[in-house]
Amino acid sequence: MKIGEVRDANRKIVGRTILHFDAVESTNETAKELLESDVEEGLVVWADRQAAGRGRHGRAWASPLGGLYASFILRPKETHAWVLGLLVGMPVVKALRHFGVFGGLKYPNDAVYQNRKIAGILSEGVYRNDVYHVVVGIGVNTNVDLDKLPAEVQPKATTLKREVSLFVANEEFLDYLLNQLDDLYSRYRNTRIEFLLKDYRGQCTTIGKRVSAMIGKDRVIGKAYDIATNGALVIADDQGAKHEFFEGTLEVLK
Ligand code: BTN
Repeated sequence: MKIGEVRDANRKIVGRTILHFDAVESTNETAKELLESDVEEGLVVWADRQAAGRGRHGRAWASPLGGLYASFILRPKETHAWVLGLLVGMPVVKALRHFGVFGGLKYPNDAVYQNRKIAGILSEGVYRNDVYHVVVGIGVNTNVDLDKLPAEVQPKATTLKREVSLFVANEEFLDYLLNQLDDLYSRYRNTRIEFLLKDYRGQCTTIGKRVSAMIGKDRVIGKAYDIATNGALVIADDQGAKHEFFEGTLEVLK
């Protein structure tokens, strides 16, 4: 059920309108349903909990009360969708730092603190009436106790509540995050994407690490050393051959 609607005319695109729900199946799905009508770019769907939150690779995203679950609608160039999904990780890390969690970005866009995931992003491209849209969904473990997350997730996850003693209301976190996302999106519209990718490279803690990745059916082990202009993680194997990795299983080796 919708429990509120907030407008902020100071924002350029992202977060000018926020629709607040108590519970939905998935904010990404609600955002997609809203695309059936004529909605503005930057519209945000925010929910206090999700009954069927989704993660990448068809996984579930545990969405208990206390966490932050929000999706927003963008209309970028379709060819930029993947790279934009990477870039969106930067405002998430910035917001976490602002509230005291000094983590980084694991490729492609997981926000991690001490190797434990604290936020995830699910970007989905959809056509509606021949117009390409991207629904970007962000889940942040804000005011959640670790034991409210599934047992198998707990060893590799953390929450803002666990890492900082100060209470941060979701509304405050979302407000700051949307300001950062709005800035990023206007930079995306006004700057060459290569420049933004440079910033991303600087924040991606996977760069420089030894990794194991599944590329198709092949396992590639080597050093992650760059982000290509198409947004792929470039891995140099022990023979020096370069491989591009986008999606799938990526393990950072110790
Ligand atoms: C991941 O697997 O890391 C991505 C997780 C994305 C979760 C968010 S929560 C808000 C939005 N709605 C969803 O169903 N998923 C995304």
